Amino acid sequence: MKHPEIEKRIKELMSEMTLEEKVGQLHQAGGSLVGAFDLTLEEILTMVADGRMTEEEGHNMLSEARRDWHEDDLRAGRIGSYIGVLSAEEMNRLQHIAVEETRLGIPLINGVDVIHGFRTITPIPLAESCAWDMELWQRTARMSAEEATAAGVHMTFSPMVDVSKDPRWGRIAESAGEDAMLNGLYGEAKVRGYQSDDLTRHDAMAACVKHFAAYGAAEGGRDYNRVDMSPQRFEEEYLPSYERAVKAGARAVMPAFNDLSGVPCSVNKKLLTDILRKRWGFDGMTISDANAIAECINHGIAADRRDAARQALNAGMNMDMTSGCFLDHVKELVEAGEVSMDTLDEAVSNILRLKFELGLFDDPYRSNAEEEKAAMLKPEYRALAREAAQKSMVLLKNSGLLPLKEGVRIGLAGAMASNGDEMCGTWAGAVQPGDCKSIRDGMDEERIGYAMITEEPLPDCDVFVCAIGERKAESGEAASRASLELTEADIALLKRLKESGKPVVTVVFAGRPLCLGPAVEYADAVLMAWHPGTEAGPAILDLLFGRVNPSAKLTASFPAATGQCPTLYYDHIRTGRPAGKFKYTSKYLDAPVEPLFPFGFGLSYTSYRYSEISATQTGNGIHAEITVQNTGDRAGDEIVQCYFRDPAAQRVRPVRKLAAFEKVTLQPGEIKRVAFDIPETALGYYDQDMNFVIDDGLIEIHIGGNVRDTLLADVDYRNA
Ligand code: NOJ
Repeated sequence: MKHPEIEKRIKELMSEMTLEEKVGQLHQAGGSLVGAFDLTLEEILTMVADGRMTEEEGHNMLSEARRDWHEDDLRAGRIGSYIGVLSAEEMNRLQHIAVEETRLGIPLINGVDVIHGFRTITPIPLAESCAWDMELWQRTARMSAEEATAAGVHMTFSPMVDVSKDPRWGRIAESAGEDAMLNGLYGEAKVRGYQSDDLTRHDAMAACVKHFAAYGAAEGGRDYNRVDMSPQRFEEEYLPSYERAVKAGARAVMPAFNDLSGVPCSVNKKLLTDILRKRWGFDGMTISDANAIAECINHGIAADRRDAARQALNAGMNMDMTSGCFLDHVKELVEAGEVSMDTLDEAVSNILRLKFELGLFDDPYRSNAEEEKAAMLKPEYRALAREAAQKSMVLLKNSGLLPLKEGVRIGLAGAMASNGDEMCGTWAGAVQPGDCKSIRDGMDEERIGYAMITEEPLPDCDVFVCAIGERKAESGEAASRASLELTEADIALLKRLKESGKPVVTVVFAGRPLCLGPAVEYADAVLMAWHPGTEAGPAILDLLFGRVNPSAKLTASFPAATGQCPTLYYDHIRTGRPAGKFKYTSKYLDAPVEPLFPFGFGLSYTSYRYSEISATQTGNGIHAEITVQNTGDRAGDEIVQCYFRDPAAQRVRPVRKLAAFEKVTLQPGEIKRVAFDIPETALGYYDQDMNFVIDDGLIEIHIGGNVRDTLLADVDYRNA
């Protein structure tokens, strides 16, 4: 929200700025690598990825390399922002140049990808979403902000709220899964946590909501690919999560790499101006994705860099992340009348507004080396990372083996058992080798005896703990997969352990849903650990030994076969021939219709009974209730889910849609009545002519512990 005092200061400052200085504010620069080697950052990363260099060698090279921050450009007022300055000292040095050596002394803003932690790493977003816990999401975001700001960060390129229905897409790891409402709530909590209620606080950082819009719908799950969908689907399933995060007060928005029905988001006026500014009233800053403005040439929509700059600025883009198109061409575009001075001024004022809001003009040096050192990996941060990991791991199978008894003799197997550095997952830029604890580290720390299983023969033990799955580089950006099956090596290991006749617990690490059929077949228990972060090992042991009762539930369906994608997701649309035994129905000949594990699924060490569902119409929506009883002998947290379905609508609607949820704690034997109020707008959708409508008549309410196991109540909406 605009503040009159800030608006006055923006105006005064802009009246003194030259055209060149205005253009300089639009440019975000990155640091180029310089050092005793002739390798670019991309080459080093490629060498690590293809095995020519170990990760540690790559890490050392990058941390030793000096970065050229283009200081002459900075002095000349040609840089308004940096991406990726990772230390307070370096940031202060650059900030001094901006504040003391440029003509107008406008401070820099430093943006960094702080996605699921800065130095203390919490579970990847997809994992953390499985906690269905806004309070937790906000607390972990606050921790990220405290560490990151101590290292000189002013803005994070997070939250990502791209609804992700296709697990082949590597960036599903960064999302809150396949449901629109969950992504929105996740985004809202993160924005609150990062920004706090006062952006001028030294430990507050601006949130940048991304990737606007519908990046998660990339065709075939292939990264950077096209997105083409009906306006109704876009409004109902993809847009709401961005709206929620923006309306929670996020001060920046990043358009997506992809095109949306033929118009790249970077030059998409409908998105950047009509929806974002005019409809939602957003008055923060837009910033492109890396090099995305220049890539409009590759999209085949811009003739050259000048043309790309013109289209982007006129569409509503404010800051150019690293492509340099704005820096090189906006001056001549304004002089030629192809971009109006008003458009340029609007972009500059949005950028300056954020700098004022953060308090950077009055207080540009927000941390120092000492504060930075003291802020990292505090014991309470490790404790929170452990709690978040406990609440994010989903128990998928347990035929009575878990929890393990203390003193049990463990055989520890699998490629993921002892590599702590693999635990942090995608986007953990400030993490240092050795920060994160593997299962083995956790066992060493607790002095739990185990034998490592490497080769034959298998040692004498009571139970095998087998750690398999994806390495961190196998999910995230540019890590889409055509196959979601487990590797042959993982399957062979599981088989070998099974054949020993001893019970097997499989712990799966991954940044996405995988086809876990073989794990389910060969193991007695399966724990989906995702990439759990700094305290991976200890949190896994807490769950395996039953010191903590698992409570997480899936926010993305798990496929039985890769070919089920992309129709796997829970809220798919109804067809005229729903899958059935009859041949001519909607299904595959060679794969099941249902996912292996449905949306909302997750086991616990206790059990719950659902009964007495009721649903009634209220003045402006539906009130529903259900009784949930803990029928086991352990306390537990149950995530109760409320779905609805509109059986006779004016347009084809999803088979089920999540409307509300509640996480309840139940002691053994305890019974609670859980209530939901579904606002009328949640029942609405867009008709053929894009009118938002809410139907009269029958609405089915389904409540249960996952989307497949629910009780039903009917409401005759507005006809009662
Ligand atoms: C590309 C990614 O798409 C985006 O999410 C990220 O914030 C930028 N690069 C900056 O690293």
